[in-house]
Amino acid sequence: MRIEGRAKVTGEAKYAYEYPAEDVAYAFAVTSDVARGEVLSVRAPELPGLITVLSCMDPPDIAPVSDAELHLFQSRTVSYRGQIIAAVVAETLETAREAGRLLEIEYAPHEMDVELDADHPGLYRPEKVNGGFATELGSGEPADAFAGSPVRVDVTYATPAEYNNPMEPHATLAEWTAPDRLVVHDSNQGSVVVRDTLAQIFGLDPEHVTVVSPHVGGGFGSKGTPRPVPVLAALAARAAGRPVKLAVTRQQMFATVGYRTPTVQRVRLGADPDGRLRAVLHEAVAQTSRIREFAEQAAVATRHMYRTPNLYTGHQVVRLDVPSPSWMRAPGETPGMYVLESAMDELAYAAGLDPIELRVRNEPETDPDTGLPFSSRNLVACLNEGADRFGWAHRDPRPGVRREGRTLVGTGVAAATYPAMTMPAKARVRANEDGTFTVSIAAADIGTGARTVLTVVAAETLKAEPDAVTVRIGSSDLPRAPLAGGSMGTASWGHAVARACEALLAKLGDGLPQEAEADTADELKNRPQYARHAFGAHFAETAVDLDTGEIRVRRLLGVYAAGRILNPQTARSQFLGGMTMGAGMALMERGVLDLEFGDYLNHDLAQYHVPVCADIPDIDAAWIEEADPHLNAMGAKGIGEIGIVGVAAAIGNAVHHATGVRFRELPLTPPAVL
Ligand code: MOS
Repeated sequence: MRIEGRAKVTGEAKYAYEYPAEDVAYAFAVTSDVARGEVLSVRAPELPGLITVLSCMDPPDIAPVSDAELHLFQSRTVSYRGQIIAAVVAETLETAREAGRLLEIEYAPHEMDVELDADHPGLYRPEKVNGGFATELGSGEPADAFAGSPVRVDVTYATPAEYNNPMEPHATLAEWTAPDRLVVHDSNQGSVVVRDTLAQIFGLDPEHVTVVSPHVGGGFGSKGTPRPVPVLAALAARAAGRPVKLAVTRQQMFATVGYRTPTVQRVRLGADPDGRLRAVLHEAVAQTSRIREFAEQAAVATRHMYRTPNLYTGHQVVRLDVPSPSWMRAPGETPGMYVLESAMDELAYAAGLDPIELRVRNEPETDPDTGLPFSSRNLVACLNEGADRFGWAHRDPRPGVRREGRTLVGTGVAAATYPAMTMPAKARVRANEDGTFTVSIAAADIGTGARTVLTVVAAETLKAEPDAVTVRIGSSDLPRAPLAGGSMGTASWGHAVARACEALLAKLGDGLPQEAEADTADELKNRPQYARHAFGAHFAETAVDLDTGEIRVRRLLGVYAAGRILNPQTARSQFLGGMTMGAGMALMERGVLDLEFGDYLNHDLAQYHVPVCADIPDIDAAWIEEADPHLNAMGAKGIGEIGIVGVAAAIGNAVHHATGVRFRELPLTPPAVL
């Protein structure tokens, strides 16, 4: 069952840009051609149908917010190539694009600095890294313990800039229905945070801003924090005195909506001859922009993974003349676990141990970071179940010895983890006179099936048929809820919906209609402390062509322990989607830096490659039944992100098993491998 499935395949489901508006005008964003400099002048073309031009030459009146990317046109300083520095509004989209093309912008370019390396001048430790985590964390004497360990691995890996490319680019229809009343249809991962941000920027009462987002064509984190798009659409609508539509082009997405920072990461693992870890050190270097500090928390997952008496994890970033990095599916865990799990494979070889056995021997009793008990932790069960399904037992550990003609074949494994968060939310449920129920919550469905799963949760709690339940989501006017991000959407919304349904059940019998509300903030604040994480194991089989260097993934298997799986069909899709994205990370995805222009030059899906069906012939996701009473009303952990975590390591480890060579820089393209 998928409630909006029919609406989506028939085209009835409307996305932000498709909503009609009377007398609508069209905006087009104009981006900078230099990576660093000053805008000297902006000259508008003479073009019939051009309504107005916005730019830093005439800064509009808006209030700042913490993300300076949203403080549009306030400064003449250009901070990266591709930054939005002007916009045109016209009668038609075609005229807007043409006007944007003809806009004459004069720059004073400055010397730029765009290339990350591990000892870049200006590297610093941010106060916190993404997610609010400590930049550095340690215990024991890690450097000494590493130096004194009989078995050692000291490796540096590099990951490139990677881009979220949801099918639906960011788009907004903005309409001022009164001087102090703003309505936007917007593509985002959470309408409430967009509403609050717009209210702050335009100095409006949040009650006077409505953000409507019933269908969203993917986000992967790029729509999790408000990007400049709804701000620019609202500015353009205010300037034009008419409703305005704005969509970023696919090419513009590569600079304007965030991306995964490149990283350089050094991991040192020291162990006893039997593989038991004595020391783990993980240092991550990443980039951020001049105008927004985003510090990828690449070493944070390492704090929870393995038992070791001596641990160090630390992060550094450097401000470069580059676009602002941001969230991309499992920010932190994805690049970090790629490196930790690759290094664990290297340690398995150094210690002469099976990589699964190495991980089993280093299972912690309690969370190494906090000392708290895990609410549930079934990494070993995932590894064992995956080994059974994948046929790991018969694996010959020797690298580089399986040949099929001109092809080398190998298999690899890696662990996965992702935090299991449940955030405060409100929900309202109404029992209608006709025996049906209406659930209201400002949740977002970014393609995950949120409507469907919330219907299941409500029906189950109410002991009603799913057909009798209607779920209203996708508007900031509905009860306040967190965004679809951090794999916490379903857990947080479902918990509030279940609590509201329980409250409603207590009222039924007093006649209809009845209504009940829940706010889970207090309950969640007062719950017992546990380390709450989902775990998983990824297995890959790869074939490497000796003549072309081409790597094919033949088989990919993910086994997860993620609490209760609420809807097997949509859950499976989430896992497979994450794994496919992980295969893209391993084999093809990379922003190629052009040092002359100071920009990543592959700005479309013809040049920035993501996997297609033919790249993923045999893929499967499975999960173990995990009953965890310490999570939320459903016993569910999030599943949106864990599917990508560790996949690139499993594939990289399989490539090593096939070839006997360690490639420590992604992606593993033919030129990199030959
Ligand atoms: Mo996800 S990258 O936290 O939206």
